[in-house]
Amino acid sequence: MVLSKPEMVDVTHCNSLRLTSTARAIRSIDSVETLDNAIDEAFALDMPIAVLGEGTNSIFPNHIEGMILKCEISGLEFVQSSDTTVRATVGAGLNWNDFVRQCVDQGLWGVENLALIPGSVGAAPVQNIGAYGVEVSSVIHSVIVFDIHTRTVKEISAERCGFGYRESRFKHEWRQKYFIIQVVFELSKVASPVLSYAGLDALQGEVGLTSKRVADEVSDIRSQKLPQPSILPNVGSYFKNPIVSSEHAARLVADYPSVPHWNMSEGVKFAAGWLIERCGLKGEPLEGGITPYAKQALVLTNPKGACYDQLVASERWIIAEVASKFGVELEREPQLVSPFAISTSH
Ligand code: EPU
Repeated sequence: MVLSKPEMVDVTHCNSLRLTSTARAIRSIDSVETLDNAIDEAFALDMPIAVLGEGTNSIFPNHIEGMILKCEISGLEFVQSSDTTVRATVGAGLNWNDFVRQCVDQGLWGVENLALIPGSVGAAPVQNIGAYGVEVSSVIHSVIVFDIHTRTVKEISAERCGFGYRESRFKHEWRQKYFIIQVVFELSKVASPVLSYAGLDALQGEVGLTSKRVADEVSDIRSQKLPQPSILPNVGSYFKNPIVSSEHAARLVADYPSVPHWNMSEGVKFAAGWLIERCGLKGEPLEGGITPYAKQALVLTNPKGACYDQLVASERWIIAEVASKFGVELEREPQLVSPFAISTSH
Protein backbone atom coordinates (compact mmCIF):
# COMPACT_ATOMS: atom_id res chain seq x y z
CA MET A 1 0.00 0.00 0.00
CA VAL A 2 1.34 3.44 -0.89
CA LEU A 3 0.63 6.02 1.80
CA SER A 4 -0.09 9.51 0.51
CA LYS A 5 1.34 12.54 2.31
CA PRO A 6 -1.30 14.42 4.32
CA GLU A 7 -2.43 17.87 3.26
CA MET A 8 -0.88 20.87 4.97
CA VAL A 9 -2.20 22.07 8.34
CA ASP A 10 -2.14 25.58 9.74
CA VAL A 11 0.09 25.62 12.85
CA THR A 12 0.15 29.36 13.48
CA HIS A 13 -1.68 28.79 16.80
CA CYS A 14 1.14 26.45 17.96
CA ASN A 15 3.79 29.18 18.32
CA SER A 16 3.56 31.98 20.85
CA LEU A 17 5.16 34.48 18.43
CA ARG A 18 2.17 33.75 16.12
CA LEU A 19 4.31 33.51 13.01
CA THR A 20 2.06 32.46 10.14
CA SER A 21 3.03 28.87 9.44
CA THR A 22 1.87 25.56 8.00
CA ALA A 23 3.17 22.02 8.57
CA ARG A 24 2.69 18.76 6.69
CA ALA A 25 1.15 17.10 9.76
CA ILE A 26 0.90 17.42 13.54
CA ARG A 27 0.40 14.66 16.12
CA SER A 28 -0.32 14.98 19.83
CA ILE A 29 2.01 12.78 21.90
CA ASP A 30 0.63 11.79 25.31
CA SER A 31 2.50 8.54 25.96
CA VAL A 32 5.49 6.49 24.83
CA GLU A 33 3.03 4.39 22.82
CA THR A 34 1.60 7.32 20.83
CA LEU A 35 5.16 8.55 20.29
CA ASP A 36 6.27 5.18 18.95
CA ASN A 37 3.21 5.03 16.65
CA ALA A 38 3.76 8.56 15.35
CA ILE A 39 7.40 7.79 14.56
CA ASP A 40 6.23 4.65 12.69
CA GLU A 41 3.74 6.74 10.73
CA ALA A 42 6.31 9.42 9.85
CA PHE A 43 8.82 6.73 8.85
CA ALA A 44 6.26 5.01 6.62
CA LEU A 45 5.48 8.33 4.94
CA ASP A 46 9.20 9.12 4.63
CA MET A 47 8.43 12.33 6.49
CA PRO A 48 10.90 14.21 8.71
CA ILE A 49 9.78 15.01 12.27
CA ALA A 50 10.08 18.04 14.56
CA VAL A 51 9.58 17.97 18.34
CA LEU A 52 7.51 20.72 19.96
CA GLY A 53 6.36 21.61 23.48
CA GLU A 54 4.09 24.62 23.96
CA GLY A 55 5.91 26.57 21.22
CA THR A 56 6.87 29.44 23.53
CA ASN A 57 10.56 29.33 22.65
CA SER A 58 10.32 28.21 19.03
CA ILE A 59 10.62 30.09 15.77
CA PHE A 60 8.35 28.73 13.03
CA PRO A 61 9.40 29.08 9.37
CA ASN A 62 6.65 29.80 6.79
CA HIS A 63 6.28 26.09 6.14
CA ILE A 64 7.45 23.08 8.16
CA GLU A 65 7.96 20.24 5.70
CA GLY A 66 7.44 17.45 8.19
CA MET A 67 5.37 16.07 11.05
CA ILE A 68 5.28 18.04 14.30
CA LEU A 69 5.24 15.79 17.39
CA LYS A 70 3.64 17.95 20.06
CA CYS A 71 4.48 16.69 23.53
CA GLU A 72 1.46 16.45 25.84
CA ILE A 73 2.72 13.77 28.26
CA SER A 74 1.23 14.49 31.70
CA GLY A 75 1.80 13.11 35.21
CA LEU A 76 3.43 14.36 38.38
CA GLU A 77 4.72 12.29 41.28
CA PHE A 78 6.43 13.54 44.43
CA VAL A 79 8.53 11.06 46.45
CA GLN A 80 10.52 11.83 49.58
CA SER A 81 14.20 11.17 48.68
CA SER A 82 15.80 12.10 52.04
CA ASP A 83 14.87 13.85 55.30
CA THR A 84 15.25 17.20 53.56
CA THR A 85 14.56 16.51 49.89
CA VAL A 86 11.69 15.49 47.66
CA ARG A 87 12.07 14.09 44.16
CA ALA A 88 9.46 15.08 41.56
CA THR A 89 9.02 13.05 38.38
CA VAL A 90 7.11 15.21 35.94
CA GLY A 91 5.57 14.57 32.50
CA ALA A 92 7.28 16.66 29.84
CA GLY A 93 3.96 18.04 28.59
CA LEU A 94 2.94 19.59 31.91
CA ASN A 95 2.80 23.40 31.90
CA TRP A 96 5.93 24.73 33.64
CA ASN A 97 4.17 27.28 35.83
CA ASP A 98 1.53 24.72 36.91
CA PHE A 99 4.42 22.55 38.13
CA VAL A 100 6.02 25.49 39.98
CA ARG A 101 2.69 26.27 41.70
CA GLN A 102 2.31 22.63 42.84
CA CYS A 103 5.84 22.74 44.32
CA VAL A 104 5.33 25.99 46.22
CA ASP A 105 1.88 24.91 47.41
CA GLN A 106 3.65 22.02 49.13
CA GLY A 107 6.28 24.35 50.62
CA LEU A 108 9.07 22.93 48.45
CA TRP A 109 12.06 25.10 47.46
CA GLY A 110 14.06 25.19 44.22
CA VAL A 111 11.85 26.41 41.36
CA GLU A 112 10.12 29.45 42.94
CA ASN A 113 12.37 31.98 41.10
CA LEU A 114 11.30 30.38 37.83
CA ALA A 115 7.58 31.06 38.34
CA LEU A 116 5.52 32.20 35.35
CA ILE A 117 8.10 31.25 32.72
CA PRO A 118 5.96 30.23 29.73
CA GLY A 119 6.28 26.75 28.25
CA SER A 120 6.32 23.09 29.17
CA VAL A 121 8.36 21.10 31.69
CA GLY A 122 10.07 19.16 28.88
CA ALA A 123 11.37 22.35 27.29
CA ALA A 124 12.96 23.55 30.55
CA PRO A 125 16.18 21.48 30.31
CA VAL A 126 16.58 22.10 26.56
CA GLN A 127 17.45 25.77 26.96
CA ASN A 128 18.20 25.51 30.70
CA ILE A 129 15.57 28.12 31.56
CA GLY A 130 16.72 30.71 34.05
CA ALA A 131 15.48 33.81 35.81
CA TYR A 132 16.13 35.91 38.91
CA GLY A 133 19.43 34.25 39.79
CA VAL A 134 18.39 30.60 39.34
CA GLU A 135 18.86 28.18 36.43
CA VAL A 136 16.72 25.06 36.24
CA SER A 137 19.85 22.87 35.94
CA SER A 138 20.46 23.49 39.67
CA VAL A 139 17.39 21.37 40.56
CA ILE A 140 17.36 18.79 37.77
CA HIS A 141 18.30 15.30 38.95
CA SER A 142 17.90 13.57 35.56
CA VAL A 143 16.01 13.66 32.28
CA ILE A 144 14.07 10.64 30.98
CA VAL A 145 14.13 10.40 27.21
CA PHE A 146 12.89 8.22 24.38
CA ASP A 147 15.67 7.46 21.90
CA ILE A 148 14.03 8.15 18.53
CA HIS A 149 16.31 5.80 16.61
CA THR A 150 16.64 2.79 18.96
CA ARG A 151 13.08 3.27 20.36
CA THR A 152 14.21 2.77 23.94
CA VAL A 153 13.65 4.78 27.13
CA LYS A 154 16.77 6.04 28.96
CA GLU A 155 17.49 8.12 32.06
CA ILE A 156 20.25 10.71 31.63
CA SER A 157 21.82 12.25 34.73
CA ALA A 158 21.98 16.07 34.95
CA GLU A 159 25.79 15.96 34.90
CA ARG A 160 25.72 14.51 31.38
CA CYS A 161 23.34 17.13 29.95
CA GLY A 162 26.02 19.79 29.31
CA PHE A 163 24.05 22.58 30.98
CA GLY A 164 25.30 26.15 30.54
CA TYR A 165 23.76 29.61 30.15
CA ARG A 166 20.66 28.89 27.98
CA GLU A 167 22.49 25.79 26.75
CA SER A 168 22.37 21.99 26.90
CA ARG A 169 23.25 19.01 24.73
CA PHE A 170 19.51 18.67 23.94
CA LYS A 171 19.85 21.83 21.81
CA HIS A 172 22.74 20.42 19.81
CA GLU A 173 23.97 16.85 19.34
CA TRP A 174 20.91 15.33 21.04
CA ARG A 175 18.35 17.43 19.13
CA GLN A 176 17.65 14.69 16.61
CA LYS A 177 18.25 11.81 19.00
CA TYR A 178 16.07 12.16 22.07
CA PHE A 179 12.45 13.04 22.77
CA ILE A 180 12.16 14.18 26.41
CA ILE A 181 9.31 12.33 28.12
CA GLN A 182 9.85 13.20 31.82
CA VAL A 183 12.09 15.41 33.93
CA VAL A 184 13.14 14.45 37.46
CA PHE A 185 13.72 17.31 39.92
CA GLU A 186 15.34 17.27 43.36
CA LEU A 187 13.59 19.86 45.55
CA SER A 188 14.31 20.98 49.08
CA LYS A 189 12.03 20.95 52.09
CA VAL A 190 14.42 23.38 53.79
CA ALA A 191 14.17 27.13 53.05
CA SER A 192 16.86 28.08 50.54
CA PRO A 193 15.81 31.44 49.08
CA VAL A 194 17.86 33.12 46.31
CA LEU A 195 17.05 36.80 46.67
CA SER A 196 20.13 38.44 45.15
CA TYR A 197 18.31 39.77 42.08
CA ALA A 198 17.13 43.41 42.11
CA GLY A 199 13.45 43.40 43.04
CA LEU A 200 13.63 40.32 45.24
CA ASP A 201 15.99 41.92 47.77
CA ALA A 202 12.93 43.42 49.51
CA LEU A 203 12.18 39.89 50.75
CA GLN A 204 15.57 39.58 52.50
CA GLY A 205 15.10 38.95 56.19
CA GLU A 206 11.31 38.51 55.94
CA VAL A 207 10.17 36.38 58.85
CA GLY A 208 8.40 33.17 57.81
CA LEU A 209 9.32 33.60 54.15
CA THR A 210 7.82 30.82 52.01
CA SER A 211 8.68 29.64 48.50
CA LYS A 212 5.11 30.58 47.55
CA ARG A 213 5.73 34.18 48.61
CA VAL A 214 8.91 34.26 46.45
CA ALA A 215 7.02 32.77 43.48
CA ASP A 216 4.25 35.38 43.89
CA GLU A 217 6.82 38.21 43.97
CA VAL A 218 8.61 36.85 40.88
CA SER A 219 5.26 36.54 39.10
CA ASP A 220 4.47 40.18 39.93
CA ILE A 221 7.83 41.39 38.57
CA ARG A 222 7.46 39.31 35.40
CA SER A 223 3.90 40.56 34.81
CA GLN A 224 5.08 44.15 35.04
CA LYS A 225 8.09 43.74 32.72
CA LEU A 226 7.20 41.04 30.24
CA PRO A 227 4.28 40.87 27.79
CA GLN A 228 1.86 37.94 28.08
CA PRO A 229 2.23 35.86 24.89
CA SER A 230 -1.55 35.32 24.69
CA ILE A 231 -2.09 39.10 24.52
CA LEU A 232 1.05 40.31 22.71
CA PRO A 233 2.78 37.48 20.80
CA ASN A 234 6.43 36.92 21.87
CA VAL A 235 8.96 34.21 22.81
CA GLY A 236 10.48 35.91 25.86
CA SER A 237 14.08 37.07 25.45
CA TYR A 238 14.84 36.90 21.75
CA PHE A 239 18.63 37.13 22.11
CA LYS A 240 21.06 35.72 24.66
CA ASN A 241 22.88 38.22 26.81
CA PRO A 242 26.27 38.31 25.02
CA ILE A 243 29.42 37.21 26.82
CA VAL A 244 32.53 39.07 25.63
CA SER A 245 36.25 38.94 26.48
CA SER A 246 37.47 40.99 29.46
CA GLU A 247 39.51 43.30 27.15
CA HIS A 248 36.46 44.08 25.01
CA ALA A 249 34.37 44.47 28.17
CA ALA A 250 36.81 46.98 29.65
CA ARG A 251 36.53 49.15 26.51
CA LEU A 252 32.72 48.95 26.56
CA VAL A 253 32.49 49.88 30.22
CA ALA A 254 34.92 52.78 29.69
CA ASP A 255 32.78 54.10 26.81
CA TYR A 256 29.42 53.36 28.47
CA PRO A 257 29.88 53.36 32.26
CA SER A 258 26.19 52.67 32.97
CA VAL A 259 25.95 49.47 30.88
CA PRO A 260 24.67 46.58 33.07
CA HIS A 261 27.24 43.75 33.09
CA TRP A 262 28.19 40.71 35.15
CA ASN A 263 31.51 38.91 35.50
CA MET A 264 31.31 35.24 34.53
CA SER A 265 33.93 32.52 34.36
CA GLU A 266 33.85 32.63 30.51
CA GLY A 267 34.09 36.46 30.23
CA VAL A 268 31.78 39.40 30.93
CA LYS A 269 28.04 39.18 30.23
CA PHE A 270 26.24 42.32 29.02
CA ALA A 271 22.52 43.13 29.10
CA ALA A 272 21.38 42.77 25.48
CA GLY A 273 18.16 44.68 26.27
CA TRP A 274 20.22 47.72 27.30
CA LEU A 275 22.33 47.53 24.11
CA ILE A 276 19.20 47.33 21.90
CA GLU A 277 17.57 50.19 23.80
CA ARG A 278 20.71 52.34 23.35
CA CYS A 279 20.47 51.77 19.58
CA GLY A 280 17.12 53.59 19.77
CA LEU A 281 15.14 50.46 18.86
CA LYS A 282 13.04 49.98 22.02
CA GLY A 283 9.34 50.29 21.10
CA GLU A 284 10.23 50.92 17.42
CA PRO A 285 8.30 48.84 14.87
CA LEU A 286 10.62 47.11 12.39
CA GLU A 287 9.84 44.89 9.36
CA GLY A 288 6.27 43.51 9.50
CA GLY A 289 5.64 45.41 12.74
CA ILE A 290 8.07 43.28 14.78
CA THR A 291 8.82 45.52 17.80
CA PRO A 292 11.36 45.36 20.66
CA TYR A 293 8.92 45.56 23.58
CA ALA A 294 8.54 49.05 25.04
CA LYS A 295 9.29 47.86 28.61
CA GLN A 296 12.00 45.27 27.78
CA ALA A 297 13.82 45.63 24.46
CA LEU A 298 15.20 42.08 24.58
CA VAL A 299 11.69 40.76 23.95
CA LEU A 300 10.59 41.01 20.31
CA THR A 301 6.82 41.24 19.90
CA ASN A 302 4.71 40.44 16.85
CA PRO A 303 1.56 42.58 17.14
CA LYS A 304 0.71 42.56 13.41
CA GLY A 305 1.02 38.87 12.51
CA ALA A 306 4.37 39.12 10.72
CA CYS A 307 5.78 36.02 9.06
CA TYR A 308 9.19 34.38 9.46
CA ASP A 309 10.90 36.37 6.68
CA GLN A 310 9.86 39.66 8.27
CA LEU A 311 11.06 38.46 11.67
CA VAL A 312 14.45 37.52 10.22
CA ALA A 313 14.74 40.93 8.50
CA SER A 314 14.02 42.65 11.85
CA GLU A 315 16.46 40.35 13.67
CA ARG A 316 19.23 41.12 11.15
CA TRP A 317 18.61 44.83 11.50
CA ILE A 318 18.92 44.68 15.31
CA ILE A 319 22.06 42.51 15.14
CA ALA A 320 23.66 44.92 12.64
CA GLU A 321 22.79 48.02 14.69
CA VAL A 322 24.17 46.55 17.93
CA ALA A 323 27.30 45.26 16.15
CA SER A 324 28.01 48.61 14.55
CA LYS A 325 27.51 50.61 17.78
CA PHE A 326 29.07 48.24 20.34
CA GLY A 327 31.08 45.68 18.33
CA VAL A 328 29.01 42.93 19.99
CA GLU A 329 27.40 40.07 18.04
CA LEU A 330 23.94 39.16 19.37
CA GLU A 331 22.84 35.54 19.06
CA ARG A 332 19.22 34.36 18.75
CA GLU A 333 18.09 32.37 21.79
CA PRO A 334 14.82 30.59 20.74
CA GLN A 335 15.17 27.66 18.39
CA LEU A 336 14.14 27.42 14.76
CA VAL A 337 11.84 24.46 14.12
CA SER A 338 13.69 22.36 11.55
CA PRO A 339 12.45 18.83 10.88
CA PHE A 340 14.92 15.96 10.68
CA ALA A 341 14.76 12.53 9.04
CA ILE A 342 14.34 9.35 11.11
CA SER A 343 17.26 7.12 10.24
CA THR A 344 15.88 3.70 11.20
CA SER A 345 12.64 1.98 12.03
CA HIS A 346 12.44 -0.86 14.54
N1 EPU B 1 17.65 46.70 30.44
C1 EPU B 1 17.58 47.93 29.82
N2 EPU B 1 16.70 48.07 28.79
C2 EPU B 1 15.90 47.06 28.37
C3 EPU B 1 15.99 45.82 29.00
C4 EPU B 1 16.87 45.66 30.05
O1 EPU B 1 18.29 48.87 30.16
O2 EPU B 1 15.12 47.29 27.44
C5 EPU B 1 18.55 46.55 31.59
C6 EPU B 1 17.78 46.41 32.90
O3 EPU B 1 17.47 47.65 33.44
C7 EPU B 1 18.74 45.63 33.76
C8 EPU B 1 19.45 44.74 32.76
O4 EPU B 1 19.26 45.33 31.47
O5 EPU B 1 19.67 46.47 34.35
C9 EPU B 1 18.93 43.31 32.77
O6 EPU B 1 17.55 43.33 32.47
P1 EPU B 1 16.53 42.25 33.09
O7 EPU B 1 16.71 42.17 34.54
O8 EPU B 1 15.18 42.59 32.59
O9 EPU B 1 17.00 40.87 32.53
P2 EPU B 1 17.57 40.41 31.12
O10 EPU B 1 19.03 40.17 31.27
O11 EPU B 1 17.15 41.33 30.04
C10 EPU B 1 17.34 37.88 31.66
C11 EPU B 1 16.76 36.66 31.04
C12 EPU B 1 15.24 36.63 31.24
C13 EPU B 1 14.95 36.63 32.73
C14 EPU B 1 15.57 37.90 33.35
C15 EPU B 1 15.44 37.93 34.84
C16 EPU B 1 18.20 36.09 29.16
C17 EPU B 1 18.35 36.01 27.68
N3 EPU B 1 17.05 36.62 29.61
O12 EPU B 1 16.83 39.01 30.94
O13 EPU B 1 14.76 35.41 30.69
O14 EPU B 1 13.55 36.63 32.98
O15 EPU B 1 16.99 37.92 33.04
O16 EPU B 1 16.28 37.01 35.42
O17 EPU B 1 19.09 35.68 29.89
C18 EPU B 1 13.88 34.46 28.68
O18 EPU B 1 14.90 33.79 28.61
O19 EPU B 1 12.97 34.36 27.81
C19 EPU B 1 13.73 35.44 29.75
C20 EPU B 1 12.69 36.27 29.81
